[in-house]
Amino acid sequence: MKVLVTGGAGYIGTHTLVELIAAGHEVVVYDNFCNSSPKAIGRVEELVGQEVPVVRGDIRDRACLDRAFAEHSAEAVIHFAGLKAVGESYRQPLSYYDNNVTGTQRLLEAMEDAGVRTIVFSSSATVYGEDAPVPYVESMGRGRPSNPYGGTKAVVEQMIEDLVRADDRWSASLLRYFNPIGAHPSGRIGEDPQGVPNNLMPFLTQVAVGRLPELSIFGDDYLTRDGTCERDYLHVVDLALGHLKALEAKSAPGVAAFNLGTGKGTSVLEMVATFESVTGQQIPYCIAPRRAGDLPASWADASKARLELGWSAEKTLEDMMRDSWRWQSANPEGYGG
Ligand code: NAD
Ligand code: UD1
Repeated sequence: MKVLVTGGAGYIGTHTLVELIAAGHEVVVYDNFCNSSPKAIGRVEELVGQEVPVVRGDIRDRACLDRAFAEHSAEAVIHFAGLKAVGESYRQPLSYYDNNVTGTQRLLEAMEDAGVRTIVFSSSATVYGEDAPVPYVESMGRGRPSNPYGGTKAVVEQMIEDLVRADDRWSASLLRYFNPIGAHPSGRIGEDPQGVPNNLMPFLTQVAVGRLPELSIFGDDYLTRDGTCERDYLHVVDLALGHLKALEAKSAPGVAAFNLGTGKGTSVLEMVATFESVTGQQIPYCIAPRRAGDLPASWADASKARLELGWSAEKTLEDMMRDSWRWQSANPEGYGG
């Protein structure tokens, strides 16, 4: 199948390109490189041994989207493009709604006009909202978004559901990711956040490589096993494979949401201890106040993806730590090095 991959130069996009090409699919990347480097595409090309066609464009640019569909005759879209920094989304909510919501609307309009009606969308566990009990199950529906970024994901899910219900030629998968970490086992592609990382795993590896002095653990007084927050971390290669399963399952029209997680929570202290034991690196850390907006615990009930897509996360926490460290230690400055 020929797949247009928006945001294909990003962290999850690059890993998905590798798995798509390995499975025999054709790809074309559509990215404006606002949060990624063209070097990442070069690394993907090196891994897959072939050229990866790229359209440099914005998903809000309808004319550019139309040209991309006309020139590349894609049959489906995997839609990663969007802004994802929670803190920034509080400061610039309109920019988040513009990129993520208006951008997706433009993309859906261009797909409709091009007759491409299969989409796999990058959603997030954040759509379950602040009050949902763990584990999160798809049947719970969406809750109150805890931040503007989460709000954009909920609106886009709703927009896609409305579209599919209005026209049964459309087929859509809403993939609700939990906490993707890790990197390709080659160490050639991985996560390369701009500035100081917000997320735990890149912060931890940047401490280990000496770019940052110590990790602040945000709160140790939660009602969890050891007082620190628990999250469902999954390997980015497993997540990439989830997109293939969703794409391949989409012969029938309709819309369906799937949790992509391991079904298991790990605390921040357990993350630090596992990283240290797998890599032999010591992580200096301190206990800091809670971070606003953090939930004590979040993990998936991942049985729907297993039963309906035949997907489950295979890689262990040790694999995630080893691969994150291989990427960070071989590329201390990310793609900028
Ligand atoms: P990323 O920032 O590494 O990749 C996103 C890519 O989209 C980048 O290459 C960026 O340049 C591109 N992009 C952004 N806005 C664009 C626009 N208007 N037009 C064209 N390209 C644009 O992020 P990621 O971690 O790979 O995440 C991919 C998707 O998955 C995002 O939609 C994100 O919200 C979602 N998601 C990520 C996580 C996570 O923890 N990484 C969790 C849940 C959901
Ligand atoms: C965060 C976002 C979520 C988004 C996801 C992926 C918030 C409140 N949530 O999820 O909406 O979908 O990233 O981009 O921002 N931690 C530390 N020290 C650090 C960093 C993190 O202790 O320096 C802790 C956090 O308190 C949390 C855990 O590590 O308990 C994981 O944090 P993070 O990687 O940011 O992911 P989430 O908070 O789950």
